[in-house]
Amino acid sequence: MEPINILIIDDERVICNGCSLALSDESHLVDIRMTGRAGLDAILKGQYDVVLLDLKLPDLGGMEILSAIRKEKPEVYIIVMTGYSSVQNAVEAMKLGAFDYLAKPFSDDELAIAVEKAVENKRLKEENLSLRQQLSDQFGFSNIIGESPGILKIFEQIQKVAPTDSTVLLCGETGTGKELFARAIHAHSKRAARQFVAVDCSTFSSSLLESELFGHIKGAFTGAVKDKAGIFEIANQGSLFLDEVANLDMGTQAKLLRAMETQEFKPVGGSLLKKSDVRIIAATNRDLKTMVDDGNFREDFFYRLNVFPVFIPPLRERKDDIPRLLYHFLKMYCRQIEKRVDGFSDDALEMLINNDWPGNVRQLKNVVERLVIMADDQILDYRDLTDHWDADRNQNRGSIPETLDELKSVKRHLLENQFGQIERAFLQKALSAAQGNVTQAAKRVGMQRSNFSALMKKHRLSANCTEMTSKCADSMK
Ligand SMILES: Nc1ncnc2c1ncn2[C@@H]1O[C@H](COP(=O)(O)OP(=O)(O)OP(=O)(O)O)[C@@H](O)[C@H]1O
Ligand SMILES: [Mg+2]
Repeated sequence: MEPINILIIDDERVICNGCSLALSDESHLVDIRMTGRAGLDAILKGQYDVVLLDLKLPDLGGMEILSAIRKEKPEVYIIVMTGYSSVQNAVEAMKLGAFDYLAKPFSDDELAIAVEKAVENKRLKEENLSLRQQLSDQFGFSNIIGESPGILKIFEQIQKVAPTDSTVLLCGETGTGKELFARAIHAHSKRAARQFVAVDCSTFSSSLLESELFGHIKGAFTGAVKDKAGIFEIANQGSLFLDEVANLDMGTQAKLLRAMETQEFKPVGGSLLKKSDVRIIAATNRDLKTMVDDGNFREDFFYRLNVFPVFIPPLRERKDDIPRLLYHFLKMYCRQIEKRVDGFSDDALEMLINNDWPGNVRQLKNVVERLVIMADDQILDYRDLTDHWDADRNQNRGSIPETLDELKSVKRHLLENQFGQIERAFLQKALSAAQGNVTQAAKRVGMQRSNFSALMKKHRLSANCTEMTSKCADSMK
């Protein structure tokens, strides 16, 4: 493997020597420059992978160097270091494209972890680039947006598993892209030219689902006026996407398990076995292992599905993908709606990045669609968003959903609202039992203080259970 080239730019010799000592080994080559100009010069002429950059240098400003590197050598990973550790500096540096931030003094371990993270990210990005290149020649992965390490890892996993016939289990919250990835797996498999059939296991009763999956013969039940082929037969040599697999009842699980093991099945009401060669891709937003432990899911079927699990992280855990997704959907809807909107103001972007996105990418996509429809200006700002959140909150009161997506969104809203109220009451009860002492209240309910106060902040509650002012909320950060 090629060694990693690291450059340290700092005017303090002890920092340079300390970092160099901590990082140098056979796989890391470390250079030092002690002024901004010399550092910038070295970067422009050299081939560095990672730069550790002090923000306060005697000649050139750290931010100036940062901007210059981003412009001239965007592939270099920059980790900024500063003794003036303020959140503001970190935010500024990250905005200008720094990869990470180390506040002095930092330990050797913190330094090594930051550098390793950068190297891992770079490696994944490069691998993904060549992978994308290879795949886009055939089918294109370009409709899946994401370059966060979590998503890059999934691309890597999918590339490996797609060409095999192994069962894949996609796990992730609603709207994270399970179906999108399932289609990508099919598209990159040797079955790509055959059918991809998706079955939502939550929308059928068990008897109807069995007849959908395995087909039925004439007279099998009232209304079965002729033989009907099932999905297993239709998807022969293709892929079958079992969506929301947690909703299958035990009986159907047993029948599916048998069909998967033997590649044979019997249509409902029939006695003859039929053969089918189907690759199963399953998806769930529930924790199947816990369901097995609770006796609500067959253990044997779980292990049959869990051959190659792929976990898709929720959007709030890969926030660096949010701007890319926002601009992707913005372009898409501008094209569709034939409207010109150029982008988002800084405060709008910040608000969107900081949002929790319980409905993940689907919710983000819907928000952008609505914003584009409503936009009066070419830049979407904070006010457009506040209007949107208000409308979103009032939505679904009394209106009957018309599509499955809308139904899911209503369900999510109702659960969130109801759960939110319970969560708030829970905090209030704990606080009042502890006479407003947050540490005591957290202890009583078995939570860490930091998590408890984060929840208080979410509900804008102060220790005496009254509505928190924003100043008070800030002081809890
Ligand atoms: N990384 C992504 N890039 C682009 N579009 C995405 C991405 N992830 C999800 N989407 C889009 O978001 C929407 C929801 O994705 P998808 O239906 O695959 O989610 P899901 O995990 O199957 O959700 P559910 O559990 O609710 O069925 C789709 O319109 C999909 O195209
Ligand atoms: Mg889905």
